[in-house]
Amino acid sequence: MTSETILVTGANGQIGSELVLALRKNYGEDNVIASDIRENDTDSRFEILDITDGNKLHEIIQKNKVTQIYHLAALLSGTSEKNPALAWKINMEGLFNVLENTVQHNISKVFFPSSIAVFGPNSPKINTPQFCNTDPTSIYGISKLAGEGWARYYNLKKNTDIRSVRYPGLISYKTKAGGGTTDYAVDIYFEAKENKKYTCFLEENTYLPMMYMPDAIRGTIDLMEASKNTLTVKDSYNLSAMSFSPKEVCASIQKIIPDFSIDYQPDFRQAIANSWPQSIDASVASADWNWKPQFDLDKMTEDMLKNIVIENV
Ligand code: NAD
Ligand code: SER
Repeated sequence: MTSETILVTGANGQIGSELVLALRKNYGEDNVIASDIRENDTDSRFEILDITDGNKLHEIIQKNKVTQIYHLAALLSGTSEKNPALAWKINMEGLFNVLENTVQHNISKVFFPSSIAVFGPNSPKINTPQFCNTDPTSIYGISKLAGEGWARYYNLKKNTDIRSVRYPGLISYKTKAGGGTTDYAVDIYFEAKENKKYTCFLEENTYLPMMYMPDAIRGTIDLMEASKNTLTVKDSYNLSAMSFSPKEVCASIQKIIPDFSIDYQPDFRQAIANSWPQSIDASVASADWNWKPQFDLDKMTEDMLKNIVIENV
């Protein structure tokens, strides 16, 4: 069995709740410590941690002899736009605390999730390349781009091994999405199953890059386990699986629930979506560490509708 001890921050969220299970399967139940600002009564290997508290992070790392960190804690795009100052504090101070503790405790590897939100109105919209103009207009995108810069700086100047991907919108059924612009693509499945109708906060032809959670978890762990000398990108890898609009996901659901219906009431998140790419080129990730997605829209729809459990029905 491995001698790694892994700390996951923001572990109660959409990604963390599945990533912790996958890491425990690979590294052993006792070797993965989940942490979050919110309590988790069901997890015996859990620490309460507000990531803006660098001293508490230091104590947890020291007490548990942590060797790797998956740093997920952050505010997502919708929530960030409503409270930019808090988003900056959590997304930036949190990352800075992780990086400083990484150097101090000689942490061997860190995972930091970035986002398609680092791109902006002047980035190419279709098949957005790994290296191109990045001019984010959302505070969330600005914080992720700054985070990528910090990762590159620590890797180059402090000899750390911070690895990162620019996740597209992630879709899953175990834990609902937490305040992002791509959340409609999660909510739509829950509403389809429960009420057979959905009011979408984005316009019908808004194309965004998306990915099913099993692909995201596999990709994350594959990147973290890849040999360091194959990794040419020192800040964050583009990652992609599929691209669709609300109208297309509606049509995919209607193949299984024919009387499902959708209407549209775009809100402030439309402007954020309009500033992001419609599809992403992940060829550098494919070349460097064999990235390849397994789920397309219809395969994901089938799996989502099969697995969503509606409580109190
Ligand atoms: P989420 O909102 O579901 O979960 C985030 C977790 O962080 C929550 O459990 C929350 O309680 C916790 N948290 C908030 N403030 C905290 C603090 N101060 N200290 C400690 N924990 C705190 O988000 P997610 O979808 O699981 O995303 C995880 C990471 O992946 C984030 O960094 C996010 O920006 C990134 N990401 C997510 C997506 C996506 O589509 N889900 C896409 C791109 C990037
Ligand atoms: N899914 C995320 C969001 O919408 C993208 O990083 O905020």
